[in-house]
Amino acid sequence: MADIERLDPSPAGIRRATELLRKGALVAFPTETVYGLGGLATRDNTVARIFEAKARPRLNPLIVHVPGLEEARAIAEFDDAAEKLAEAFWPGPLTLVLPLKPDSGISALATAGLKTVAIRVPAHPLAQALLQAVGHPVAGPSANPSGKMSPTCADHVMDNLTARVAAVLDGGDCPVGVESTIVATTPKPTMLRAGGVPAEKIEELLNTKLEAHSGKINAPGQTLSHYAPDNMLRLNADTAAEGERLLGFGDVDGDLNLSSKGDLAEAAANLFRYLHTLDAIEGPIAVAPIPEEGLGVAINDRLRRAAALKF
Ligand code: TXA
Ligand code: MG
Repeated sequence: MADIERLDPSPAGIRRATELLRKGALVAFPTETVYGLGGLATRDNTVARIFEAKARPRLNPLIVHVPGLEEARAIAEFDDAAEKLAEAFWPGPLTLVLPLKPDSGISALATAGLKTVAIRVPAHPLAQALLQAVGHPVAGPSANPSGKMSPTCADHVMDNLTARVAAVLDGGDCPVGVESTIVATTPKPTMLRAGGVPAEKIEELLNTKLEAHSGKINAPGQTLSHYAPDNMLRLNADTAAEGERLLGFGDVDGDLNLSSKGDLAEAAANLFRYLHTLDAIEGPIAVAPIPEEGLGVAINDRLRRAAALKF
């Protein structure tokens, strides 16, 4: 393992993380969804290093993190729907894809040269403190090697990202556990990725159905095989077959249970941690059925991609 500094969730830890980020180094930090691999979004060479650290295909754009709506307005154009969504769900697990302002200062590498930018205001107190202290937008993909499972604790980052990361700000387990919901508002409100804010809540607020993703933007979280464990994954299993470990949910109990009381928020928070735990041991993994509603949509999306055959 490379020499990654583990920083305490203290004022001193935040100061050190801030200093490293301002120098252009990469610092993994906790958000309420998953850990992000942070670097100044305004610096080409820092952003390039993020792609290198993740071995991520260059053309896939990154989410830009800012502490609040005011900082977001300096980067992106907000239409009425975007205003409403930001007001209702920020800070929180929602990313908005909006037209990029020409003088935003964001590295074209971070947006992959698109005319839009994905922007997020995380609610996690450490992410908030860090973003406010840094005073510049921070690009932050999930802090995992490209195509692998997302990290929901500092150890996941330290065990899997071995190069080019200076430090991890250790905030313990991420409370939401699946990535942010990604919505574009123009030309029509469109769901780009299911996530921490259920689609139903967004549709209720905007009083309209969200369009489904057209598939035009080749986003890594949208590729069929993603979040891939090393072992085989079988979905919708009511029992474990010979040699399988079962990840349970509700009444379908297993070696681990995402939520024995059938609570989808608890299941989302446990999802990647339990998959990481089971995947550390060789052998196939089966997963109990998860209802396709609320946060279950995001959980099933991650599970389907994790189970998809890799090519
Ligand atoms: O919860 C999250 O969103 C976490 C935490 C760290 O904030 N971040 C995260 O980032 O999941 P990442 O890079 O793993 O996923 C970002 C997704 C990708 O699928 C990317 O292609 C998409 O956002 N994206 C970024 N910019 C976009 C744009 N302009 N248009 C469409 N999709 C975009
Ligand atoms: Mg990711």
